[in-house]
Amino acid sequence: MAVPPAPRTPARLVVLVSGSGTNLQALIEASTDPEYGATIVAVGADRDGIEGLARAERHDIETFVLRTSEFEDRPAWDVALADKVASYDPDLVVLAGFMKLTGPAFLALFGGRTLNTHPALSPSFPGMHGPRDALAYGVKVTGATLFVVDEGVDTGPIVAQVAVPVLDGDDESSLHERIKTSERAMLVEWVGTLAREGFHLEDRAVRPGPDHP
Ligand code: GRF
Repeated sequence: MAVPPAPRTPARLVVLVSGSGTNLQALIEASTDPEYGATIVAVGADRDGIEGLARAERHDIETFVLRTSEFEDRPAWDVALADKVASYDPDLVVLAGFMKLTGPAFLALFGGRTLNTHPALSPSFPGMHGPRDALAYGVKVTGATLFVVDEGVDTGPIVAQVAVPVLDGDDESSLHERIKTSERAMLVEWVGTLAREGFHLEDRAVRPGPDHP
């Protein structure tokens, strides 16, 4: 019987960002420990001039930028993104505040091994404004969700979730910052676990370890 290959050690990560990159920073710091089991081989973005790219550069991590405006249409950008990420031969791709939906070309190569983090408790409040929408709804508890990317908006199989209280007097910014503190810890813990152990899906359940141990 064929034995499934063990995960590569350290696992190769490509991280995609669009903003301040504090989730990326948490991964950079975790991955300096050889025991973590993952190394960031490249950081990509859909825009220039962001702190996320600067953080990568300060740590001598290779970076690239692919703006949608440089391409004829979104599918062409999606193909270019898939090709560029593939050139780094990653085991896992992590979307860490990447404000674009990946498309069919990207998912054909990296579906099932791309993780995204969303600042709300899925399936509530998908989309660009999770903290704002949670506040407007008046929930008392929200949080963050780490999931395996599929073709929907924040709909993929859930890896982990963390609950965060909404406090009286919160505005969007204070709530999002509180969420991000928990989100970073969850991201670091689970990216490390999945990088070291591999994972597979049982319907919508994400299980660490090989499919047929
Ligand atoms: C995170 O809350 C992420 O879930 C959301 O945008 C934020 C990115 O923060 N999509 P940072 O750029 O990692 O600081």
